[in-house]
Amino acid sequence: MSQAYLPDSKKSSAKNASAVSPVTPKSKTLLRLLRYLKPYWWALLLTALGFAINAGTEIWTAKLLQYITDAINQNDRSKQALFPLLIILLFFVRGVGSFLGNYYSALVSRNLVYELRVEVFNKLLRLPSSFYLANPAGTISSKLIFDVEQVTAASTDSMKTLLRDGLTVVALIGFLFYSNWRLTLILFVVLPPILWLVRIASKRYLRLSKGIQETMGNVSHITNEVIGGYQVVKNYGGQSYESARFDKTSKKNLRQGMKVVVTNSINTPAVQLLMAVAMAVVVWLALRPVVIDDISAGEFISYIAAAGLLSKPVRSLTDINQKLQKGLAAGESIFALLDEPEEEDTGTISKALSGQMSLDNISLVYPDSTVALRDFTLNIKAGETVALVGRSGAGKSSLVNLLTRTLETSSGQITLDGMPIEDIKLESLRAQIAMVNQQVVLFNTTVFNNIAYGGLADKTQAEVEQAAKDAFAHDFIMKMPNGYQSEIGAEGLQLSGGQRQRLSIARALLKDAPILILDEATSALDNESEYYIQQALDNVMKDRTTLVIAHRLTTIESADRIAVMDGGQIVELGTHNELMQLQGHYAQMYARDFK
Ligand SMILES: Nc1ncnc2c1ncn2[C@@H]1O[C@H](COP(=O)(O)OP(=O)(O)O)[C@@H](O)[C@H]1O
Ligand SMILES: [Mg+2]
Repeated sequence: MSQAYLPDSKKSSAKNASAVSPVTPKSKTLLRLLRYLKPYWWALLLTALGFAINAGTEIWTAKLLQYITDAINQNDRSKQALFPLLIILLFFVRGVGSFLGNYYSALVSRNLVYELRVEVFNKLLRLPSSFYLANPAGTISSKLIFDVEQVTAASTDSMKTLLRDGLTVVALIGFLFYSNWRLTLILFVVLPPILWLVRIASKRYLRLSKGIQETMGNVSHITNEVIGGYQVVKNYGGQSYESARFDKTSKKNLRQGMKVVVTNSINTPAVQLLMAVAMAVVVWLALRPVVIDDISAGEFISYIAAAGLLSKPVRSLTDINQKLQKGLAAGESIFALLDEPEEEDTGTISKALSGQMSLDNISLVYPDSTVALRDFTLNIKAGETVALVGRSGAGKSSLVNLLTRTLETSSGQITLDGMPIEDIKLESLRAQIAMVNQQVVLFNTTVFNNIAYGGLADKTQAEVEQAAKDAFAHDFIMKMPNGYQSEIGAEGLQLSGGQRQRLSIARALLKDAPILILDEATSALDNESEYYIQQALDNVMKDRTTLVIAHRLTTIESADRIAVMDGGQIVELGTHNELMQLQGHYAQMYARDFK
């Protein structure tokens, strides 16, 4: 379903590499992006107004130069007080214009970031597990963090450039033609080849700075690894290896950096020299009587000034396509995520379950064609406790994940109380199964909120405390500085493995569901805590259907039935005593446990 999903970095760089990209998808992406801008038409209008004012002041600047020059030339002192005032007014109006433009374009782009980000996040909550299995967490979160930012930066940036520099260019060219059309025509012959040269230079610059970004990425990647794994680095004497690795990458970064500096240092004077050549041609021509008959010094100065003002906006307009393409590539990656098929909920039934389950000829094949379960058949009575044992990789976790429909069966049928599992509403199904996973998941909030998580948020303090007591967690929670209101930090890193597991058990017990699934729920506990929790769990298991997966066989001796799994199948099934008499796999495992 989502195997076609490429890691995003590869995807966008592949797009960037091919300069000529197919027209339809790109324009579709653009149209889709523009749809997000629609509600902000008024802000875009104000942006345009601001930049129009800004463009107007460019002409004003050129014109003012003309008046001042002519006034000096003609020794006219009547406007002596007027010019300083005009200069201040000019910059005031210019300031108002660029404020309007910058403020309202930022308003559009920040809102776009916000909207896209929230939409992507909410989409993530509705995606099926298969999506998470197929995509590394880093790739998914980089979409949320970088791609969203990139798409808006690039799309609204290019819109802003188009408005600001486009309007400026139109205004200045209009002014140039208006003041001297013959000279302007000449200018238009001289400028294009120069702009072309400038473009070539800036392309090389861009390529180099991309390389710098990459080496910078490697620098931070190594740093993160060393910080995150500082214990392994220390314990295995990895310092000199890491130091050498870091040095190599940093040197690369240094060389790239110097190349950028060199390119840039040559680039800027070279561009200026080219511009000077163009200007020289214009000046030379302008001073010939063929081109201009009677031009005042002021007019001439203002003409040259306006032509000079043209270069910056023209340069940024030539970069606009690149910006846009970058934004569109990021946009495509985001829209691909937004178009992923969501978790399907075909169920309509939301009845209370008794806990009877039957698994009939179940197979499960992972997308990488690992067969985790084959022809698995098991009937479980309501209220029964069934233990699943077997070596790691036998398929135990895969099996229990089918019951919450985190995974879908490849073939066979699971029924609960006689109803096909697909016919039960997902929300209802998951509300009636309390599961403690192998991997404990804790959130960066209080102990209380971690136990009373999600749908359990309305449980009372007393209920939460009871669950914590049953999970043998109450005592250590009370020893924490703020008891149940203590923050446990990101991923509960301040807690020991056993403490984390006890919180996760408390969460499941608080759910008080008719079906309880414990997937190696006590594996990180010491023997003593496990013994106490086992007693509490025995109580809890009495009146509900329970599936227990355990390493230590002592903890499951009292189960109603024990299923020994191997290679995705049941190889032995019976009570502890029956299996011991059988003298097969179970008896062997049991004997090994007691050695
Ligand atoms: N996401 C996955 N993708 C591909 N194969 C998987 C995945 N998860 C588990 N497997 C494979 O499925 C088999 C059963 O794994 P699992 O159910 O975790 O076993 P157990 O819980 O008994 O240790 C193993 O061979 C394992 O490598
Ligand atoms: Mg497992």
